[in-house]
Amino acid sequence: MNARATGMSGDAPRTRPDKGDYTTLGEESWAVHGGNRADNTTGAIRTPIVMSNSYRLPRDPTTLDDSDPDALVYTRESGVNQLGLQAKLAVMEHGEAAAVFGTGMAALHAAFFSLLNPGDHVIVSNVVYMRVWGLFDSLLPTKLGIEVDFVDITDLDAVRAAVRSNTRLIHTEAIANPDLRVADIAPLAHIAHAGGALLTVDSTFTPPPLLRPLDLGADLVIHSLTKYFNGHGDAMGGAVIGARSIIDEIKHGPMHHVGGAIAPFNAWLIMRGSITMPLRLRRHCENAAAIAAFLADDPRVAYVAYPGLPSDPGHTCAAAQFNGHYGGVVSFAIAGDHEDRLRFVNDLRLITSAVSLGHDETLIAYERYPEERAAVFAPPFRDHGLIRLAAGLEASDDLIADLHAALTTAYGPDH
Ligand SMILES: Cc1ncc(COP(=O)(O)O)c(C=O)c1O
Repeated sequence: MNARATGMSGDAPRTRPDKGDYTTLGEESWAVHGGNRADNTTGAIRTPIVMSNSYRLPRDPTTLDDSDPDALVYTRESGVNQLGLQAKLAVMEHGEAAAVFGTGMAALHAAFFSLLNPGDHVIVSNVVYMRVWGLFDSLLPTKLGIEVDFVDITDLDAVRAAVRSNTRLIHTEAIANPDLRVADIAPLAHIAHAGGALLTVDSTFTPPPLLRPLDLGADLVIHSLTKYFNGHGDAMGGAVIGARSIIDEIKHGPMHHVGGAIAPFNAWLIMRGSITMPLRLRRHCENAAAIAAFLADDPRVAYVAYPGLPSDPGHTCAAAQFNGHYGGVVSFAIAGDHEDRLRFVNDLRLITSAVSLGHDETLIAYERYPEERAAVFAPPFRDHGLIRLAAGLEASDDLIADLHAALTTAYGPDH
């Protein structure tokens, strides 16, 4: 792979670049040009939104090649905007192929449904997005007879010890939602492959160029496109990216037979968002780093999790893996009681109390967990609840001023 494409900045090209040859292009150029096609009918240099839910059949429909999962026949299975987005994502993640869906959860479900059979065993990080946790905690075991062990993914010995003869999959988030623990992808891939299993990585918090799990040995990378790729808080989508043989199985299986297709308009919006994603991501990360430093220094804050802080348990791994940036999310705990924390969150003026991340505006969510989940979090989160802040694109000084003022409302002056 192009070494130049792994950094955030990209040097000047040494040779005259060609639009379609990604190996000669810098990071931002991949995001701009990947998957773009001029429209043959109008000559428009951007793919129009094609809302049609079906496509004209050939004169003899029996000649249709059923083995091609991308054939343009019916929009549950393939569509013009879906194809463009898939091509762009495959390029950006260094994968052979991509399958996109209507939500991140649809993408995750499709991957697991395709890869797993009754009786298979899965090792899952014990901190993952709550709906993914629910999928592995109840739906997959009870509906499909999948055996699941939740393991601290940062403890490689524990992961190794959990591998069984029927282990088919290890699944983790690169930076975990919500406690931001960092998974070390290369050794996890090694453990999975040594045990005859695959590694799937949900890289929603670490889109490229922060991380490319496939380059580190993961078999599939999965994204909620709803977040940084879309970037503007106005569309949902999900993607699975990896070897064409696995992606084709996912398309021929759950995508075609279960559904979960992305709407053409949403695929178009996310395609547009993807173009500026690397630029925006840099700003999200810079703002998150500034906010984490501010919070870590404030005596009213009991605990800050952010892989960019040198004191964070995931810092060394993150520094080695994420190309010098540490993500756009900061999780923290503030002392006081439940009412104090509600006062703090509700007194914020610029920062909006809402779930999700990767929006242009900064979002904050005060979360509490059921006992069985809370047990795996660091004690400050267990005691004080967890506040997850997803840094937006505003001026960091404005965000810090808002946080400082709301902390003062809730707790009084800091000194
Ligand atoms: C890490 C992670 N994966 C997957 C999802 C699910 O994505 P979606 O909301 O697009 O279904 C989320 C949602 O917050 C998430 O945080």
